[in-house]
Amino acid sequence: MLINIPTKNTLKDCNVTDESVYLERRSLLKKMGFLGASAVMSSAITSTAQAGFFSDDDKEKVKFQTKALNFSKDSTNEHLLRTPENKVISHNNFYEFGAQKDQPLALSQGFDVAPWQLKISGECDNPITLDYDNLTNMFPLEERIYRLRCVEAWSMVIPWIGFSLAGLLKKVAPNSRAKYVAFETLHDPKQMPGQADRRLGGGLIFPYVEALRIDEAMNALTLMSVGLYGKTLPPQNGAPIRLVVPWKYGFKSIKSIVGIKLLEHKPPTTWNKLAPKEYGFYANVNPNHDHPRWSQASERSITTGGLFSRNRVATLPFNGYGEEVADLYKGMDLSKNF
Ligand code: MTE
Repeated sequence: MLINIPTKNTLKDCNVTDESVYLERRSLLKKMGFLGASAVMSSAITSTAQAGFFSDDDKEKVKFQTKALNFSKDSTNEHLLRTPENKVISHNNFYEFGAQKDQPLALSQGFDVAPWQLKISGECDNPITLDYDNLTNMFPLEERIYRLRCVEAWSMVIPWIGFSLAGLLKKVAPNSRAKYVAFETLHDPKQMPGQADRRLGGGLIFPYVEALRIDEAMNALTLMSVGLYGKTLPPQNGAPIRLVVPWKYGFKSIKSIVGIKLLEHKPPTTWNKLAPKEYGFYANVNPNHDHPRWSQASERSITTGGLFSRNRVATLPFNGYGEEVADLYKGMDLSKNF
């Protein structure tokens, strides 16, 4: 049975509680027959109600060894108040390790990231394959403190470490047919239990795939991240390498990438394929374009409030990065191209 779905107009900003978003997401997957014992996408309520934020029990779950990185500090965004590290690494969306917020931490600590190969191919003159050491040695690493806004209406501020995607793409020399950049996550059901068990994986079709237009990929803000908080990425945040696109909803920022392909035509993307009316290809953060079943006008800041605090802040167009990216969408109707 479906949980009652309020229409767009009956859901005002002030009553978009975390729980309503959670239940709405559950109802979608339930409708599609995938919601069983595991919860879906927005399961903060259940998971943290059980564990609190990074309780002593959680600390015992951190077995994966991260390494310190050398990087240049982000002085531009130093003013942003960071989300505590323990929250960043314990409240995750990574369906390959389970659809509940606490499952990626609990189920990924044995993840083997080496050897790793990232293949960059397609419409380019110099396709390359990077191995694990290349990921942290090939480019000087820099810190970028960015806001992350999830489509579920919660947000964090994270000090990522990485290098610009533009620099990497220039190395492969895209040709004139390259209009899109497609990304693919590792497919390894032995290591990623959500890929082996469709219920645990929330019914997503794997491998998880995402894509950007080439001009979005070349924008100076678009980051390939290999670390956070001064260390290499833990598995639950997308080790050993992930994308970070700060002006888009978090689902565009694909984790644990093994393939990047330059393409002439727009490729399919995971959440858009699953529910095209709910998750657009662009997924630019837009407080004026509600999700069909909840408002996107505000968000719960995990940085400044506890999980259950009603600490809501207004959502900004392009997540506050409009000055840097609005020009990419000049002349486009953003409610049609959502
Ligand atoms: N990448 C893969 N491969 N699988 C996923 O389930 N979830 C996305 C994105 N990247 C996801 C993914 C979503 S919905 C969000 S909000 C962000 O990762 C969350 O990143 P974080 O857990 O590091 O905060």
